[in-house]
Amino acid sequence: MLSDKSKEEIKRVLNKYPNKRSAAMDALRIAQNETGCLSGDVMQEVAGILGMPAPQVNEVAAFYTMYNKKPVGKYHIQVCTNVSCSLLGAEHIVEFLSRKLGIKKGETTPDKKVTLSVVECLGSCGTAPMMQINDDYYEDLTDEKIEEILSKLP
Ligand code: FES
Repeated sequence: MLSDKSKEEIKRVLNKYPNKRSAAMDALRIAQNETGCLSGDVMQEVAGILGMPAPQVNEVAAFYTMYNKKPVGKYHIQVCTNVSCSLLGAEHIVEFLSRKLGIKKGETTPDKKVTLSVVECLGSCGTAPMMQINDDYYEDLTDEKIEEILSKLP
């Protein structure tokens, strides 16, 4: 269930867009910020507020990797594996993180601290290989940098 605050925020952003469909991404972002992931019930609720069919809202959420369709850990590591990052070692980055964290891509550590995901281009190709942890980018990754980043996750 979304809070009244989130529902009001979604209604407010509706005014920024020429039509309801255009507001779907912003509305899903607001919902995810509150709930952490977009369950079927949450997407149904967002669709209701937007006055859109639920399958259309689900399609938007399904298309973009930034929307979590299942719960993620406190830290969500998203490694770009698109062309530029792959050419500069993204697969190694994923394997390295997987080994360090003891989880495979798509999994969350048993303590719910970290989720490891692979995603498409995050728009930072010039600093490949790169990853995003929650809202922050980490670029020009090396094993040493990753070790340091992981050691600083509280
Ligand atoms: S290919 Fe990785 S950020 Fe674009």
